[in-house]
Amino acid sequence: MTISIQVENVTKEFTMQYHRTLKQMAVASLKRLPLQEKFLAVNDVSFNVEQGSSIGLMGLNGSGKSTLLKLINGVMRPDTGIIRTRGRIAGLIATGAGFHPQLTGRENLFLNGAILGMSEAETKRKFDEIVEFADIGKFLDTPVSHYSSGMYARLGFSIAVHVDADVFLADEVLAVGDRPFKKKCMAKMQEIRQQGTTIFYVSHATASVRAMCDRVLVLESGRLNFDGDVDEGIRYLQYDDADDDEENEMDSELGADV
Ligand SMILES: Nc1ncnc2c1ncn2[C@@H]1O[C@H](COP(=O)(O)OP(=O)(O)O)[C@@H](O)[C@H]1O
Ligand SMILES: [Mg+2]
Repeated sequence: MTISIQVENVTKEFTMQYHRTLKQMAVASLKRLPLQEKFLAVNDVSFNVEQGSSIGLMGLNGSGKSTLLKLINGVMRPDTGIIRTRGRIAGLIATGAGFHPQLTGRENLFLNGAILGMSEAETKRKFDEIVEFADIGKFLDTPVSHYSSGMYARLGFSIAVHVDADVFLADEVLAVGDRPFKKKCMAKMQEIRQQGTTIFYVSHATASVRAMCDRVLVLESGRLNFDGDVDEGIRYLQYDDADDDEENEMDSELGADV
């Protein structure tokens, strides 16, 4: 058993500023109102992930999921605690992260590939495959600032998923894509999962978590309050009780296909 990700007592503190301008700050301080508040976005979180396992990271908006992913990815450092990761990490931690708005899709493909650790030769070799998967067609040579959020996500996902990585992080990547693209992404993630890549999948879609993951972590206000079986984790979240029928329906359809 090889450990792929080790997270030990990790904490990340953020400062919330209540006021944006100097004038607002001056007024607030005269009234003795608080100017800022510190809070723990990730609060004393510990867990280990085995190489090749697939983890669903769940929790409400603002519970610290993206922050935890950024800490694992290495774009942020924890304030306390230790994070160890083995091998190359790729993935999409924010839609279009690392994209330059004035560059075209093609240029961003090379730039993003480089950021994710691919050599120019590797990107060239995979170029056609990436473009075909992203399916952005004639928009390849258009600046990405003209892309829709869905197109942004397609290109970003396609690049990330074609990196030969040991760990793949996916932060709500499928939330903006259309249904055919979601299906394609799920199939692709299953493929890299089968190849033994460790997957960290953030999603609110219970059916896709059931299909994708063999373990669920639930964050609540920065605390890891559940770590275990997928169905139990979803029950813990009580997402199945949601009366959001359309979402659930679509969700089960998606899950049935993958
Ligand atoms: N760079 C930052 N500075 C200050 N607060 C932040 C920053 N990034 C995230 N936060 C806050 O930290 C909390 C957790 O955010 P996030 O990890 O994005 O949650 P999630 O991905 O679970 O929705 C939220 O309250 C968010 O507003
Ligand atoms: Mg998030």
